[in-house]
Amino acid sequence: MTRVGVAGLGYWGPNLARNFDELAELAWVCDLDAEHRDRFAARYPGARATASVDEMLADESLDAVVIATPVPTHYALAKRSLEAGKHVLVEKPPAMRSVEMDELVRIAAASDLVLMPGHLLLYHPGVVKLKELIADGELGEVLCVYGNRQNLGIVRTNENALWSLGVHDLSVILYLLDEDPDVATAQGRDFLTPGVEDVVFCFMRFPSGKIAHMHLSWLDPHKMRRMTVVGREKMVVFDDMELERKVTVYEKSPWKRAETYGEWQTRSGDIFIPKISTDEPLRLECRHFLELVEGRGDRAKVARDGARVVRALEMLTRSLGS
Ligand SMILES: NC(=O)c1ccc[n+]([C@@H]2O[C@H](COP(=O)([O-])OP(=O)(O)OC[C@H]3O[C@@H](n4cnc5c(N)ncnc54)[C@H](O)[C@@H]3O)[C@@H](O)[C@H]2O)c1
Repeated sequence: MTRVGVAGLGYWGPNLARNFDELAELAWVCDLDAEHRDRFAARYPGARATASVDEMLADESLDAVVIATPVPTHYALAKRSLEAGKHVLVEKPPAMRSVEMDELVRIAAASDLVLMPGHLLLYHPGVVKLKELIADGELGEVLCVYGNRQNLGIVRTNENALWSLGVHDLSVILYLLDEDPDVATAQGRDFLTPGVEDVVFCFMRFPSGKIAHMHLSWLDPHKMRRMTVVGREKMVVFDDMELERKVTVYEKSPWKRAETYGEWQTRSGDIFIPKISTDEPLRLECRHFLELVEGRGDRAKVARDGARVVRALEMLTRSLGS
């Protein structure tokens, strides 16, 4: 059974520890904070507890490391873990700069190790359905995609809305379109904390001509977790706030009637709600990681997809700062 160590047991790490305890052998729990460490050492008596990632990495029988520490620590911890010969699942984004991410991808490829970013939404059955609808040609040519991730709060003070909220939607948009943007611009304002943008609008254009937009904000009256894909034949909305209609497919499209001399008409047909499984996306993400570690699936693809997200994030961040 794959032996896994989890570093970082704050808010998110415990969810990863729970899943790996159930799906694999949770061999180590690691956190700098003694209180967090002690709590999880008690919960998982079969796992060894440490404050030192290096002590955990020195265990030759450990196969894989899961990193759920704060973002600025990801690159260095992932690099050390790969260099110690461990497979790595690292929370998003694995690095803050694309040169760092490219280095991680190179090290992983050279040692045939898994480097998987924790892009949770890519495992959401609703997002998988969007991808299926696009890949099967159901929507016709995809023209544009936009994400809404808004709410009132939580007001962050050390990460702006692009980094805190945008990485999720960015990973979904790039997964759906499977292209790198050639234009990626962002505009925002730091209304509450100087230097930390609370509201960010992003625009991307892709070589195929498709365009995308993200509205990211914690200063908004609506709680929205929504992704809309507009195709020439049909349009589809993934709404994670909905319980029973996560995905809605609209048979709506523009068309031209021959007798109106090329004037555009619109067509509104049926509205279809496909059944979406309620499987926990994190469980599916952890399972996929273990499959890759066991040699099934495309190891290079998850690393490449992660690098694409960091590249686009870097373009947006540069634009936001200028
Ligand atoms: N996929 C998701 O939906 C999702 C949700 C929340 C957070 N996250 C990601 O999870 C990561 C952690 O976020 P969080 O909200 O849990 O943060 P947090 O601050 O609550 O927890 C981080 C933990 O890491 C520990 N830590 C810091 N440096 C360490 C080191 N060098 N070695 C060992 N432990 C160390 C801290 O003591 C703390 O307990 C972030 O990358 C965040 O983006 C992902």
